[in-house]
Amino acid sequence: MKSLIDTYTLNNGVKVPIVGFGTWQTPDGAIAKVAVKSALSSGYRHIDTAEMYGNEKSIGAAIKESGVSRNSLFITSKLSNSDHSYEKAATAIEKSLRDLQVSTLDLFLIHWPNPKMFRDSDWKKHLQDTWRALEDAYKAGKIKAIGVSNFKEHHFDILKETQTVKPMVNQIRICPGDYNEELIDYCRNENILLEAYSPLGTGKIFTDKIMAEIAEKNNRTVAQVCLRWSLQHDFLPLPKSIHEDRIEENSHLFDFELSDSDMATIDNLKNIVGHVADPDTAEF
Ligand SMILES: NC(=O)c1ccc[n+]([C@@H]2O[C@H](COP(=O)([O-])OP(=O)(O)OC[C@H]3O[C@@H](n4cnc5c(N)ncnc54)[C@H](OP(=O)(O)O)[C@@H]3O)[C@@H](O)[C@H]2O)c1
Repeated sequence: MKSLIDTYTLNNGVKVPIVGFGTWQTPDGAIAKVAVKSALSSGYRHIDTAEMYGNEKSIGAAIKESGVSRNSLFITSKLSNSDHSYEKAATAIEKSLRDLQVSTLDLFLIHWPNPKMFRDSDWKKHLQDTWRALEDAYKAGKIKAIGVSNFKEHHFDILKETQTVKPMVNQIRICPGDYNEELIDYCRNENILLEAYSPLGTGKIFTDKIMAEIAEKNNRTVAQVCLRWSLQHDFLPLPKSIHEDRIEENSHLFDFELSDSDMATIDNLKNIVGHVADPDTAEF
């Protein structure tokens, strides 16, 4: 683990850079363009977006303008919660390809398993049909890898009833103080890569005193310690920032190592960043 372009290998053999650049709450237009160009200048080669972030067009434009070659990049997008059906998912994939100005996506995810708008109808059937649309786009070569986000074990069971391709990724919230060990073990046993979203607790980690002490002791920042913790656990963190200096700071993760004792202290932090929404009861 030496740089941002080291890779993990997904269960279908596709390689994915071990750190991704997060773009949630990165407004479309100049802010998204500057953030993505800064990330590319700092050496990130993996960009994480979603239809629901509303910034795919700016990200596509930033990538084009950066001059970084498409085949050195790993681009992920995710399906909107309103598009849980075969036809809508198939159309949404085409729209993401168009908006991002690419002919293939490296990874496409079902963003949430059980959106509120389908909960009272046959949401399981919607989910299975949606997955079939991702499988067909994968088989047609439009997407190099397919996966899910915010899935718990019982959501995977629903896919297993009909799937012909196994998910390659589960993108879930993993941050000191908020991670689900049982779900992590399940994904690892299934050979599903864990992408760690909100690795900085969407900014809430910065007020924790213990994290600040560990950062000071290691002569690093809290963000760097957090991201290093994630990497030393073999997660794939997706830090987000719209500030050039922070984007650069968050890329310097390979010139130090956390001791076993620091890792254990961080593992044991509780309730410091709030808790992720339950996908079966969330209000969206
Ligand atoms: N699949 C899902 O359902 C899902 C859900 C949430 C997130 N995600 C993905 O995961 C990515 C990251 O999660 P996130 O957006 O929740 O947030 P995050 O990366 O955990 O934290 C971002 C926050 O921390 C601040 N920050 C970043 N680097 C910093 C630094 N070095 N020093 C001080 N503050 C810093 C940012 O502020 P500034 O931007 O102002 O610098 C922002 O407020 C998302 O962008 C998205 O790509 C996926």
